Amino acid sequence: MKPTMAILISGRGTNMNTIVDNCHDGLINAEVAFVASDNPDAAGLHSARQKGIPTRILPYSSQGRRDAERCLVTLLEDHSVGWLILAGFMRILSPGFVVPRRGRIVNIHPSLLPSFPGRDSIREAFGHGVKLTGVTVHLVDEEVDHGEILAQEPVRILPGDTLEELEERIHQAEHVLYTRTLIDLLGRSG
Ligand code: GAR
Repeated sequence: MKPTMAILISGRGTNMNTIVDNCHDGLINAEVAFVASDNPDAAGLHSARQKGIPTRILPYSSQGRRDAERCLVTLLEDHSVGWLILAGFMRILSPGFVVPRRGRIVNIHPSLLPSFPGRDSIREAFGHGVKLTGVTVHLVDEEVDHGEILAQEPVRILPGDTLEELEERIHQAEHVLYTRTLIDLLGRSG
């Protein structure tokens, strides 16, 4: 049986789209049980539905983190989900949620951690004038943007780069690195 994953998003969902497509094409050895978001307006929810993936809203805004995580736990149990994949999910999971699932929650972050954790990492790296930034895929622990690093990909900031150009190259690197890392973790089905 293939491993089962759920993907959490908050926004566009381009990483989620890439993962769903690569699972569907057999490049990543996993089934995507559902895509969930704290943000009912996340554009990625629409594209997940178009791909035939069930979507769920986690009630962070209406009920708070505790109830939203309870809801997530129920969904994960109901779908026998083994892997939780964070793809632009902008909420912090509580230690009570993370600890029992340590080693089974994966996140992607748009910097070379431990540099530039948190939000707006690409803008911050650009603003600091660093010459090299990149992308990190890591296991999630109780700290924010922290945990065992599984893979990193450097991205150069070139003279004359605009923020938009840098963001575009980072996102391209993310899609390749997340796919490669999930293949390393879960294997290929083909
Ligand atoms: C990605 O750049 C991801 O690394 C980042 O959010 C973006 C989501 O893009 N995540 C974080 O900053 C987590 N701290 P997407 O919705 O198009 O996949």
